[in-house]
Amino acid sequence: MFEEQLLEPKHHDPSTFACGEPALDAFVQRHAHQTMRRGISQSWVLVPVDQTSTIAGFYSLAPAEVGLANLQPEDARPLPPDPIPCFRMGRLARDHRWRGEGIGELLVGLAVERCLQARRSVGGYALIVDAKGEVAKSFYLRYGFRPYLDTPNSLYLPLGGPGEEPLLTTGLWSAKRVTA
Ligand SMILES: CC(C)(COP(=O)(O)OP(=O)(O)OC[C@H]1O[C@@H](n2cnc3c(N)ncnc32)[C@H](O)[C@@H]1OP(=O)(O)O)[C@@H](O)C(=O)NCCC(=O)NCCS
Repeated sequence: MFEEQLLEPKHHDPSTFACGEPALDAFVQRHAHQTMRRGISQSWVLVPVDQTSTIAGFYSLAPAEVGLANLQPEDARPLPPDPIPCFRMGRLARDHRWRGEGIGELLVGLAVERCLQARRSVGGYALIVDAKGEVAKSFYLRYGFRPYLDTPNSLYLPLGGPGEEPLLTTGLWSAKRVTA
């Protein structure tokens, strides 16, 4: 069982975190807390409930915006002039010890839930990610992310209008939050 917590350097130990991407390991080990202290982004970690100092995965969120020219035409058409307010998931990674256990999917779902919460207060059209390559891109495409028109490794997931939340916030995700 896992729990989502705000990264807290005094409690969480990122020193052994290894996801296979050194830049992402370095971010959670050395830079994530600094960006939080400066109010630039927030990093959330997923920890096993019986060992809450261990980081099984993490994601970082920050406010962002997207230009209409980046969006697929059917998405851009009903929107007002750009830029369009959004959220950016700057980083997402899962430690190799939990490979293939659904942690990556759970992290995406938790990030989307958090954006939906924030959107109730401040608005926000979509969740944006910059995939590090084709492999990461195909991971995000599974969850309904759509490629930018001009930058195919940048993707966005429309958060929908009221009552039209993305599929990935249905019961499956909530259940995984408890049992993964
Ligand atoms: C990408 C990443 C988060 C996936 O995490 P994970 O915990 O292995 O993924 P899950 O177990 O939740 O897998 C969810 C589904 O996506 C699939 N999947 C996992 N990794 C995938 C990948 N790289 N490409 C395509 N599909 C992938 C799984 O097969 C699974 O599908 P299934 O349920 O039909 O079997 C993880 O590999 C990782 O941290 N990689 C290094 C960092 C990285 O690339 N981050 C992305 C930011 S650019």
